[in-house]
Amino acid sequence: MRDCVTSAGTLGSVYGNDFGTPQEGDQRPRESGDPAAFTQLLADDCRIEPRDDMPEAYRKTLVRQIAQHAHSEIIGMQPEANWISRAPSLRRKAILMAKVQDEAGHGLYLYAAAETLGADRADLLDQLHSGRQKYSSIFNYPTLTWADVGAIGWLVDGAAIVNQVPLCRCSYGPYARAMVRVCKEESFHQRQGFEILHTLSHGTAAQKAMAQDAVNRYWWPSLMMFGPPDDDSPNSAQSMAWGIKRFSNDALRQRFVDMTVPQAEALGLTLPDPEIVWNDERGHYDFGEVDFTELFEVIKGNGPCNAQRMAHRREAHEDGAWVREAASAYAAKQAESGVGAA
Ligand SMILES: [Fe+2]
Ligand SMILES: [Fe+2]
Repeated sequence: MRDCVTSAGTLGSVYGNDFGTPQEGDQRPRESGDPAAFTQLLADDCRIEPRDDMPEAYRKTLVRQIAQHAHSEIIGMQPEANWISRAPSLRRKAILMAKVQDEAGHGLYLYAAAETLGADRADLLDQLHSGRQKYSSIFNYPTLTWADVGAIGWLVDGAAIVNQVPLCRCSYGPYARAMVRVCKEESFHQRQGFEILHTLSHGTAAQKAMAQDAVNRYWWPSLMMFGPPDDDSPNSAQSMAWGIKRFSNDALRQRFVDMTVPQAEALGLTLPDPEIVWNDERGHYDFGEVDFTELFEVIKGNGPCNAQRMAHRREAHEDGAWVREAASAYAAKQAESGVGAA
């Protein structure tokens, strides 16, 4: 990264939840209405900030991507929340509650980042609830046993890390800064999942079998989290040119496989793909073909839990109406008394 955004400024902004403020060191004069300025900022590997002119297509792509990411975070609370009341110990319960709460926080950072692009949060949620905007297909799979909580942490949060670390260098400042904190928290999530599976796989034969079954069910859907193959991913080239995406879907999928195979060995569990083998020539693991028909079916709404997830989300939104009304009334009162302005 060039010195137009200092790393200290980047972190400071994230921890202050200050998504919209340009960072210290990013004070170069911006020429309003000059389309060349946007191209120059990208060429210099600088961040685009909310005050900068940007092509409408860039803004729209980011709103769609950030909203879809935010929706995934809050829908992703559901499969694991299913096990909070049945966690096997107080320690596991406390950790799982913190993890699910983190995901709610990720959703909030991301909706706030989308708002810096002029999007309206209520409108984005409407689009989710009416099915016009999507969320990650992985959250349409059920959590059948406690080991699934481990498999989700290890594989799903692990895949999320591989997807999201490059987003810390995304060209849009508020999104990139939100990702710094999100990735730190995802790292904790991944480790807690690994630890759950490690405990189970070193427990009784039945516990080990339960861990293996969870990994068998979550492995392929985790590989699908990187999206369709590069040949079938029409928007990727433009996103790469805009510095939103830094690596192709297939490159990230490969990175995830390379990272995960040795971890599976450490866990004493098997990944359900007999074609996984180290390829000395490529310097990577080879692996079997992902069934993308399944991915497209789940995206279309035909996954095992799509209807359940959406019904639960809509219900939670309706149940929370009084909180939003109370918060708006409080904000209006503060504005009236001038407290907000101060
Ligand atoms: Fe998250
Ligand atoms: Fe997570």
